[in-house]
Parts: sequence; structure tokens; C-alpha cells
Amino acid sequence: MSEVVLTEVHGKVGLIRINRPDALNALNNEVVDGIGRAVDQFEADENIGCIVLTGSDKAFAAGADIGLMKSYGYMDTYKTDFITRNWERIRSARKPVIAAVSGFALGGGCEVAMMCDMIYASDTAKFGQPEIKLGIIPGAGGTQRLPRAVGKAKAMDMCLTARMIDAAEAERIGLVARVFPVDQLLDETLKSAATIASFSLPVVMMVKESVNRAYESSLNEGLLFERRTFHACFAIEDQKEGMAAFVEKRKPAFKNR
Ligand code: HXC
Repeated sequence: MSEVVLTEVHGKVGLIRINRPDALNALNNEVVDGIGRAVDQFEADENIGCIVLTGSDKAFAAGADIGLMKSYGYMDTYKTDFITRNWERIRSARKPVIAAVSGFALGGGCEVAMMCDMIYASDTAKFGQPEIKLGIIPGAGGTQRLPRAVGKAKAMDMCLTARMIDAAEAERIGLVARVFPVDQLLDETLKSAATIASFSLPVVMMVKESVNRAYESSLNEGLLFERRTFHACFAIEDQKEGMAAFVEKRKPAFKNR
């Protein structure tokens, strides 16, 4: 694993830490490929039930690496399929991925956080889509995921004015699920991830898949997907165990089957 991306295992939680402090965790290929490899590693690990992606107290990630992009021409981006080629591994993860954001989450940094299933932020977090100041538009989902998360008015405001929003505003508008004091963010995120990882992994994956359907389909199609997936729960051993444990007033022992 490259040192710009570090990994740790905390019980059943896989932690991925972006570690490029000199550039406020700006996302170059080494970082993005490192995140992808770390996701591959935790997805393949049977003992991992939830993944956390974080940065430093100062920056989750201050965006795509501007020094790198400044010399790109159209053909460099089109022929190599910039972004699509390696940025979206998180999106195809089947286990939940939580972004734990402190400090700057700007441009591609905000977009990577939004690719995760939910964002927990510290009270020092700052979110923004400042690409317009550089003569480009958001290119890793900012114009699409932000309106879905916060609505058109706030998304337009952020993308058109480049204004940064703080954690309190991000929570108020629905970009962020929870806010913690900066020194508690990682512990609280790991605690929540451990709770998720304590449940039946196939059921966790079904919940994630079903919620994501809400973004990909009509209400009718989404409800049908949910209903059929709900029916399928009754074919798995962990449903028997979960309900038996409740009736017998004991903790369930899920087997991920
Ligand atoms: C490369 C970056 C960087 C970036 C910061 N740095 N952001 N390097 N790419 N995105 C580097 C700085 O050059 C500097 O390096 C060091 O990190 C510290 O940054 P400072 O600017 O000195 O820190 P500060 O004054 O605290 O300001 C913090 C900041 C500012 C407000 C976050 O750095 C900033 O505006 N950064 C750019 C944010 C941005 O525009 N992001 C969107 C990028 S475009 P040196 O060597 O000078 O010390 C994008 C496109 C997405 O993300 C579309 C597809 C992915």
C-alpha cells in the first residue's frame, strides 16, 4: 500500500486514511489508486463489515491536484478517461463506506465524500465546489450528487459562487448525517461503523442497495425492489437468528448467511 494512503483494521471496520499532508490531501493518481486498492482489500476481507474513509484534521481532501491538471489538454482527459478510469471505486463498494470529514472537503474532495454512503463531519469541516474559480466545472459528480443531497437551490449556490459551507450548514441542508467535535470525529465514526459491522453483512448490503435504488429509479420501481429484497430476507439464516434472539431475549449471533 502506498504511503499516501494508509489502512488500519479496527475490529470489523476497515479504515482508509488519505495521507498527503503537504498538499492538503489533494487527490492525484497515487492517492486515488491507493484508495481503490484499499477498498478492494476491505471488500475482499470477510472479517470487515464497514469501511471508513478519512483524511487529517486539516483536510479530508482539498480537491483534485491542481498542479497536475494545469498541464492537461482535452486529449489527456478524454483518451485516459480522467475520473471514470479510477475515481469511482468507492461507488461500486457493496459494503457501506462512511466518510469522516475534518477540515477541507473541496472540489473532488467533496465529491469523493459524496460518493460514500454517508458523511460524518467534525465541527471544523468545510465543504465546497470551488472549481468554477479554476475555469472548470465539478467533474466527479458534484453537479449531480449535490442537488440530490441538498436540493437545487443550495447546489446551485455552492457550484456557482464557490462558497464554502461549514459543518453546521452542511448538516442542516442534509449533506452530512452527523457532526462531532473534531477530537471525537474518528472515534465516533468508528463506533458507528462498528455498530453497522455487528449486523448481518448480507442484510447491511441489502439495506445499502435498497436505499441507493431511491436514486436510480422511480418510486414504484424502488418500492418493488425494496419489497422483493425484503421478501428475500426471509430466506436467510440471519433473519431466523435475529428474530429468535429477540424472542429469547438474547443478543443475536449473526453468521452472515
Ligand atoms: C494541489 C493543493 C491543492 C489542490 C491545496 N494545495 N489544495 N495542491 N491541488 N487542490 C496545496 C497548496 O498549493 C499548498 O502547497 C498546500 O497545499 C497548502 O495549501 P495553502 O493554500 O497554502 O493553504 P491555505 O492557505 O490554508 O488554504 C487552504 C485552501 C487552498 C483554501 C484549501 O489550498 C485552496 O483553495 N486549495 C484549492 C481548492 C480547490 O480549488 N479545490 C478544487 C480543485 S479542482 P505549497 O507547496 O504551496 O505549500 C477539483 C476538480 C474536481 O477538485 C473535478 C474532478 C475531480
